Amino acid sequence: MTRKTPRGTASTSRLRGKTLPGLGTLFPGLTPVRFRRQYWPLRPLDRHGPAARLSGLADLPQLNRIESLLAAHRGPTKTLSTNPQGEHFEVPADPERAIILYKLGTPLCLGDVNHSVPSLNLWREALARELDVVPERINCSAYASPSGHGVPKHFDNREIIVVQLRGVKRWVIEPNTEVENPTQNYGPGASWNWKSYRELGTYCERTVGENGQGIAAVIEMRAGSVLFLPRGAWHTTMTEEDSLSVTFGIFTPTAADLLLSALRARLIRQVQWRRPIVAPLDEKQANLAQAQLSGLVDQWPDEAEGVTADELLGQLTKPR
Ligand SMILES: [Fe+2]
Repeated sequence: MTRKTPRGTASTSRLRGKTLPGLGTLFPGLTPVRFRRQYWPLRPLDRHGPAARLSGLADLPQLNRIESLLAAHRGPTKTLSTNPQGEHFEVPADPERAIILYKLGTPLCLGDVNHSVPSLNLWREALARELDVVPERINCSAYASPSGHGVPKHFDNREIIVVQLRGVKRWVIEPNTEVENPTQNYGPGASWNWKSYRELGTYCERTVGENGQGIAAVIEMRAGSVLFLPRGAWHTTMTEEDSLSVTFGIFTPTAADLLLSALRARLIRQVQWRRPIVAPLDEKQANLAQAQLSGLVDQWPDEAEGVTADELLGQLTKPR
Protein backbone atom coordinates (compact mmCIF):
# COMPACT_ATOMS: atom_id res chain seq x y z
CA MET A 1 0.00 0.00 0.00
CA THR A 2 1.47 3.34 -1.02
CA ARG A 3 0.41 6.39 0.90
CA LYS A 4 0.22 9.36 -1.43
CA THR A 5 1.61 12.61 -0.16
CA PRO A 6 -1.17 14.85 1.10
CA ARG A 7 -0.76 18.48 0.16
CA GLY A 8 -0.32 19.82 3.66
CA THR A 9 -1.60 23.15 4.81
CA ALA A 10 -1.18 22.56 8.53
CA SER A 11 0.29 25.26 10.71
CA THR A 12 4.03 25.51 11.32
CA SER A 13 6.05 27.15 14.06
CA ARG A 14 6.39 30.82 13.22
CA LEU A 15 7.64 33.91 14.97
CA ARG A 16 7.08 37.34 13.41
CA GLY A 17 6.39 35.70 10.06
CA LYS A 18 9.63 33.67 10.09
CA THR A 19 9.67 29.89 10.19
CA LEU A 20 11.22 28.56 13.37
CA PRO A 21 13.55 25.59 12.98
CA GLY A 22 12.34 22.58 14.94
CA LEU A 23 9.88 19.75 15.29
CA GLY A 24 6.75 21.93 15.03
CA THR A 25 7.80 23.03 11.54
CA LEU A 26 9.06 19.64 10.40
CA PHE A 27 5.91 17.86 11.59
CA PRO A 28 3.04 20.30 11.01
CA GLY A 29 0.23 20.04 13.53
CA LEU A 30 2.40 18.45 16.24
CA THR A 31 3.99 20.24 19.16
CA PRO A 32 7.41 19.00 20.29
CA VAL A 33 5.82 17.63 23.48
CA ARG A 34 3.20 15.69 21.52
CA PHE A 35 5.87 14.32 19.22
CA ARG A 36 7.86 13.16 22.24
CA ARG A 37 4.85 11.63 23.97
CA GLN A 38 3.36 9.86 20.96
CA TYR A 39 6.25 8.93 18.68
CA TRP A 40 9.68 9.50 20.17
CA PRO A 41 11.77 7.31 20.05
CA LEU A 42 9.82 4.18 19.03
CA ARG A 43 7.03 5.00 16.55
CA PRO A 44 7.70 6.04 12.96
CA LEU A 45 6.01 9.17 11.71
CA ASP A 46 5.75 10.78 8.30
CA ARG A 47 4.32 14.21 7.62
CA HIS A 48 3.98 15.98 4.32
CA GLY A 49 3.54 19.59 3.38
CA PRO A 50 4.87 22.33 1.16
CA ALA A 51 8.65 22.66 1.14
CA ALA A 52 8.12 26.42 1.35
CA ARG A 53 7.29 26.03 5.06
CA LEU A 54 10.91 24.91 5.64
CA SER A 55 12.49 28.30 5.07
CA GLY A 56 16.07 28.30 6.27
CA LEU A 57 16.38 24.70 5.09
CA ALA A 58 14.63 23.90 1.80
CA ASP A 59 15.57 27.31 0.37
CA LEU A 60 19.29 27.22 1.22
CA PRO A 61 21.18 27.88 -2.05
CA GLN A 62 23.80 25.19 -1.28
CA LEU A 63 21.00 22.62 -1.04
CA ASN A 64 19.45 23.58 -4.34
CA ARG A 65 21.35 21.02 -6.42
CA ILE A 66 23.92 18.30 -5.76
CA GLU A 67 26.47 20.33 -7.77
CA SER A 68 26.12 23.37 -5.50
CA LEU A 69 26.25 21.21 -2.40
CA LEU A 70 29.39 19.36 -3.51
CA ALA A 71 30.99 22.70 -4.37
CA ALA A 72 30.39 23.88 -0.78
CA HIS A 73 31.06 20.56 0.95
CA ARG A 74 34.25 20.09 2.96
CA GLY A 75 33.29 16.96 4.91
CA PRO A 76 33.44 13.26 4.04
CA THR A 77 31.68 12.02 0.90
CA LYS A 78 31.00 8.40 0.02
CA THR A 79 29.35 6.55 -2.83
CA LEU A 80 26.57 4.03 -2.11
CA SER A 81 26.59 1.20 -4.66
CA THR A 82 24.79 -2.12 -4.91
CA ASN A 83 25.74 -4.76 -7.46
CA PRO A 84 23.18 -7.01 -9.21
CA GLN A 85 23.80 -9.73 -6.60
CA GLY A 86 22.61 -7.31 -3.91
CA GLU A 87 26.03 -6.69 -2.36
CA HIS A 88 26.28 -3.17 -0.99
CA PHE A 89 29.44 -1.08 -1.05
CA GLU A 90 30.19 2.31 0.47
CA VAL A 91 33.37 3.90 -0.87
CA PRO A 92 34.88 7.30 0.06
CA ALA A 93 35.16 9.73 -2.87
CA ASP A 94 36.48 13.26 -3.22
CA PRO A 95 33.94 15.84 -4.48
CA GLU A 96 35.42 16.02 -8.01
CA ARG A 97 35.07 12.27 -8.52
CA ALA A 98 31.77 12.11 -6.60
CA ILE A 99 29.91 14.32 -9.08
CA ILE A 100 31.09 12.15 -11.98
CA LEU A 101 29.99 9.00 -10.19
CA TYR A 102 26.65 10.62 -9.36
CA LYS A 103 26.09 11.43 -13.02
CA LEU A 104 26.89 7.80 -13.83
CA GLY A 105 24.05 6.78 -11.51
CA THR A 106 25.65 6.34 -8.09
CA PRO A 107 23.92 7.68 -4.95
CA LEU A 108 26.08 9.80 -2.65
CA CYS A 109 26.18 10.44 1.08
CA LEU A 110 27.77 13.69 2.28
CA GLY A 111 28.64 13.50 5.97
CA ASP A 112 28.71 16.35 8.51
CA VAL A 113 27.12 18.59 5.93
CA ASN A 114 26.29 21.12 8.66
CA HIS A 115 29.99 22.04 8.72
CA SER A 116 29.69 23.15 5.08
CA VAL A 117 26.17 24.59 5.38
CA PRO A 118 26.18 26.27 8.82
CA SER A 119 22.46 27.18 8.66
CA LEU A 120 21.75 23.48 9.21
CA ASN A 121 23.13 23.94 12.72
CA LEU A 122 20.06 26.02 13.60
CA TRP A 123 17.90 22.96 12.89
CA ARG A 124 20.32 20.61 14.60
CA GLU A 125 20.42 22.78 17.71
CA ALA A 126 16.63 23.18 17.73
CA LEU A 127 16.18 19.41 17.57
CA ALA A 128 18.73 18.97 20.35
CA ARG A 129 16.85 21.47 22.51
CA GLU A 130 13.41 20.01 21.83
CA LEU A 131 14.50 16.40 22.27
CA ASP A 132 16.78 17.17 25.24
CA VAL A 133 19.77 15.59 23.54
CA VAL A 134 23.16 17.29 23.49
CA PRO A 135 23.83 18.76 20.00
CA GLU A 136 27.03 16.70 19.70
CA ARG A 137 24.83 13.60 19.58
CA ILE A 138 23.07 14.80 16.42
CA ASN A 139 24.82 14.53 13.10
CA CYS A 140 23.65 15.82 9.76
CA SER A 141 24.15 14.11 6.39
CA ALA A 142 22.87 14.80 2.89
CA TYR A 143 21.83 12.04 0.51
CA ALA A 144 21.74 12.58 -3.25
CA SER A 145 20.35 9.81 -5.44
CA PRO A 146 19.85 9.88 -9.20
CA SER A 147 16.45 8.78 -10.47
CA GLY A 148 15.92 5.03 -10.29
CA HIS A 149 18.49 4.40 -7.57
CA GLY A 150 18.45 3.94 -3.83
CA VAL A 151 19.87 2.09 -0.88
CA PRO A 152 19.05 -1.59 -0.25
CA LYS A 153 17.37 -2.92 2.87
CA HIS A 154 19.20 -1.95 6.06
CA PHE A 155 18.71 -0.53 9.53
CA ASP A 156 20.43 2.37 11.25
CA ASN A 157 21.84 2.49 14.77
CA ARG A 158 20.27 5.87 15.58
CA GLU A 159 16.97 7.65 15.35
CA ILE A 160 16.69 9.55 12.09
CA ILE A 161 14.67 12.52 10.91
CA VAL A 162 14.75 12.76 7.13
CA VAL A 163 13.80 15.94 5.29
CA GLN A 164 13.13 15.54 1.58
CA LEU A 165 14.33 18.66 -0.24
CA ARG A 166 14.18 17.79 -3.95
CA GLY A 167 12.70 15.03 -6.08
CA VAL A 168 10.77 11.93 -5.05
CA LYS A 169 12.02 9.00 -3.01
CA ARG A 170 10.02 5.94 -1.99
CA TRP A 171 10.75 4.39 1.40
CA VAL A 172 9.72 0.81 2.16
CA ILE A 173 9.61 0.21 5.92
CA GLU A 174 9.69 -3.31 7.39
CA PRO A 175 9.42 -4.33 11.04
CA ASN A 176 12.58 -5.68 12.63
CA THR A 177 11.74 -8.69 14.78
CA GLU A 178 15.29 -10.07 14.93
CA VAL A 179 17.43 -7.43 16.61
CA GLU A 180 16.23 -4.60 18.80
CA ASN A 181 18.20 -1.40 19.20
CA PRO A 182 21.23 -2.33 17.07
CA THR A 183 24.46 -0.49 17.78
CA GLN A 184 25.74 -0.70 14.19
CA ASN A 185 24.14 0.12 10.84
CA TYR A 186 23.67 -3.03 8.80
CA GLY A 187 21.87 -4.55 5.82
CA PRO A 188 21.88 -8.06 4.33
CA GLY A 189 23.61 -6.57 1.26
CA ALA A 190 26.70 -6.04 3.45
CA SER A 191 26.86 -9.67 4.64
CA TRP A 192 29.85 -10.26 2.33
CA ASN A 193 31.66 -7.94 4.74
CA TRP A 194 30.32 -9.53 7.96
CA LYS A 195 33.79 -9.54 9.56
CA SER A 196 33.60 -5.78 9.99
CA TYR A 197 30.37 -6.07 12.02
CA ARG A 198 32.06 -7.56 15.07
CA GLU A 199 29.92 -5.76 17.61
CA LEU A 200 26.66 -6.69 15.89
CA GLY A 201 27.90 -10.27 15.62
CA THR A 202 28.05 -10.54 19.42
CA TYR A 203 24.26 -10.37 19.68
CA CYS A 204 22.76 -11.25 16.31
CA GLU A 205 23.10 -13.80 13.51
CA ARG A 206 24.78 -13.19 10.19
CA THR A 207 21.48 -14.10 8.50
CA VAL A 208 19.68 -11.14 10.11
CA GLY A 209 17.27 -9.53 7.66
CA GLU A 210 17.47 -12.23 5.03
CA ASN A 211 13.85 -13.23 5.60
CA GLY A 212 11.34 -10.41 5.32
CA GLN A 213 8.62 -10.00 7.93
CA GLY A 214 6.29 -8.14 5.58
CA ILE A 215 6.00 -4.51 4.68
CA ALA A 216 4.84 -2.10 7.38
CA ALA A 217 4.55 0.99 5.16
CA VAL A 218 5.52 2.45 1.82
CA ILE A 219 6.07 6.18 2.07
CA GLU A 220 6.46 8.50 -0.88
CA MET A 221 8.70 11.38 0.12
CA ARG A 222 8.38 14.56 -1.91
CA ALA A 223 9.97 17.97 -1.39
CA GLY A 224 8.69 19.05 2.03
CA SER A 225 8.04 15.51 3.34
CA VAL A 226 9.58 14.63 6.69
CA LEU A 227 10.04 11.14 8.13
CA PHE A 228 10.98 10.05 11.62
CA LEU A 229 12.29 6.49 11.82
CA PRO A 230 13.35 4.72 15.03
CA ARG A 231 16.70 2.97 15.23
CA GLY A 232 16.62 -0.59 13.99
CA ALA A 233 13.66 -0.24 11.58
CA TRP A 234 14.39 -1.94 8.27
CA HIS A 235 14.13 0.41 5.32
CA THR A 236 14.82 0.34 1.59
CA THR A 237 14.84 3.43 -0.60
CA MET A 238 14.34 4.00 -4.30
CA THR A 239 14.13 7.33 -6.10
CA GLU A 240 11.53 8.14 -8.70
CA GLU A 241 13.22 11.43 -9.58
CA ASP A 242 16.68 12.80 -8.82
CA SER A 243 16.49 13.20 -5.06
CA LEU A 244 18.22 15.32 -2.44
CA SER A 245 17.46 14.96 1.26
CA VAL A 246 18.98 15.82 4.59
CA THR A 247 19.05 13.38 7.49
CA PHE A 248 19.51 14.30 11.14
CA GLY A 249 20.89 11.21 12.91
CA ILE A 250 20.21 11.30 16.65
CA PHE A 251 22.40 9.12 18.84
CA THR A 252 20.10 9.07 21.85
CA PRO A 253 22.21 7.64 24.67
CA THR A 254 21.58 4.05 25.73
CA ALA A 255 21.67 2.73 29.30
CA ALA A 256 25.14 1.36 28.53
CA ASP A 257 26.27 4.82 27.38
CA LEU A 258 24.98 6.46 30.55
CA LEU A 259 26.52 3.87 32.86
CA LEU A 260 29.90 3.93 31.12
CA SER A 261 29.93 7.71 31.22
CA ALA A 262 29.13 7.77 34.96
CA LEU A 263 31.70 5.08 35.66
CA ARG A 264 34.39 6.83 33.65
CA ALA A 265 33.71 10.10 35.47
CA ARG A 266 34.41 8.30 38.76
CA LEU A 267 37.42 6.30 37.64
CA ILE A 268 39.36 9.18 36.12
CA ARG A 269 39.45 10.97 39.47
CA GLN A 270 42.21 8.50 40.37
CA VAL A 271 45.55 8.68 38.65
CA GLN A 272 45.90 4.94 38.13
CA TRP A 273 42.85 4.95 35.84
CA ARG A 274 44.26 7.84 33.81
CA ARG A 275 47.56 6.11 33.11
CA PRO A 276 48.08 5.18 29.44
CA ILE A 277 48.25 1.44 28.83
CA VAL A 278 50.68 0.66 26.02
CA ALA A 279 51.05 -2.59 24.13
CA PRO A 280 53.82 -4.63 25.85
CA LEU A 281 57.05 -5.16 23.93
CA ASP A 282 58.13 -8.32 25.72
CA GLU A 283 57.07 -10.83 28.33
CA LYS A 284 58.40 -8.77 31.21
CA GLN A 285 56.33 -5.74 30.18
CA ALA A 286 53.32 -7.97 29.57
CA ASN A 287 53.55 -9.41 33.09
CA LEU A 288 53.85 -5.93 34.58
CA ALA A 289 50.83 -4.62 32.65
CA GLN A 290 48.89 -7.73 33.60
CA ALA A 291 49.61 -7.16 37.30
CA GLN A 292 48.64 -3.49 37.12
CA LEU A 293 45.40 -4.16 35.27
CA SER A 294 44.45 -7.07 37.51
CA GLY A 295 44.46 -4.73 40.48
CA LEU A 296 42.29 -2.21 38.65
CA VAL A 297 39.86 -4.82 37.38
CA ASP A 298 39.39 -6.05 40.96
CA GLN A 299 38.76 -2.49 42.08
CA TRP A 300 36.25 -1.18 39.53
CA PRO A 301 33.10 -2.89 40.89
CA ASP A 302 33.61 -0.92 44.13
CA GLU A 303 33.57 2.27 42.11
CA ALA A 304 30.46 1.18 40.19
CA GLU A 305 28.61 0.36 43.43
CA GLY A 306 27.94 4.02 44.17
CA VAL A 307 26.38 4.72 40.77
CA THR A 308 22.63 5.27 41.01
CA ALA A 309 19.79 5.45 38.51
CA ASP A 310 19.30 9.08 39.55
CA GLU A 311 22.93 9.80 38.64
CA LEU A 312 22.41 8.24 35.19
CA LEU A 313 19.17 10.17 34.66
CA GLY A 314 20.97 13.31 35.80
CA GLN A 315 23.05 13.12 32.64
CA LEU A 316 19.86 13.88 30.69
CA THR A 317 18.07 17.17 30.83
CA LYS A 318 15.53 17.42 33.64
CA PRO A 319 11.81 17.20 32.72
CA ARG A 320 10.30 20.62 32.03
FE1 LIG B 1 19.24 4.35 6.56
